[in-house]
Amino acid sequence: MQITTVDHPLALARLTTMRDKRTDNAAFRGALDDLTQMLIYEALRGWPTDDHAIETPLAAHTGVRLHRPPLLVPVLRAGLGMVDQAHAMVPEAQVGFVGIARDEATAQPVPYLASLPADLSDQPVFVLDPMLATGGSMLYTLNLLADRGATDITAVCVVGAPPGVAALENSGLPVRLVITTIDERLDDANYIVPGLGDAGDRQFGPR
Ligand code: URA
Repeated sequence: MQITTVDHPLALARLTTMRDKRTDNAAFRGALDDLTQMLIYEALRGWPTDDHAIETPLAAHTGVRLHRPPLLVPVLRAGLGMVDQAHAMVPEAQVGFVGIARDEATAQPVPYLASLPADLSDQPVFVLDPMLATGGSMLYTLNLLADRGATDITAVCVVGAPPGVAALENSGLPVRLVITTIDERLDDANYIVPGLGDAGDRQFGPR
């Protein structure tokens, strides 16, 4: 699996803001917005383009536009904080939604929503989920996408842990990973350490 770590100093500075427990919900969302912009920028590096004929105020010019913009799929709840910025970067993209809660006792994914096009063959997909911990939610989402024919999937994440990355690597699914950093480990409750806590709670407040 191809893994791109986005370790630009600006990305790491925003991540530090997100990790800091003194950062309030609004500042956390702001830092996630900024970081998402950088992750999407990197995820689209080298993306195929089509020629696009325009006229500048001075001359005819052949520019480009994205060939097949990716379908953006935030994984609710935490991925919601990435979708506005991703959509701002790729305004022509369509958006699907997957909702997965986490059973706190077992850390198993509990799905409650899948709003996706029926046919994803020939449609690149960006899955937006800040945390790649055990990989359970991401794998569930990847399987939903693969069942609809997706063959070109990018997981766009903020922080990962080795078990989550290994789960994607061993899945055999057509996925690459764009992520800021891979942290040291999971704790006994499957939170990423050092991590940033619960990414949903940090954005929206505790449930
Ligand atoms: N989900 C989170 O929000 N945080 C973690 O550390 C792990 C999973």
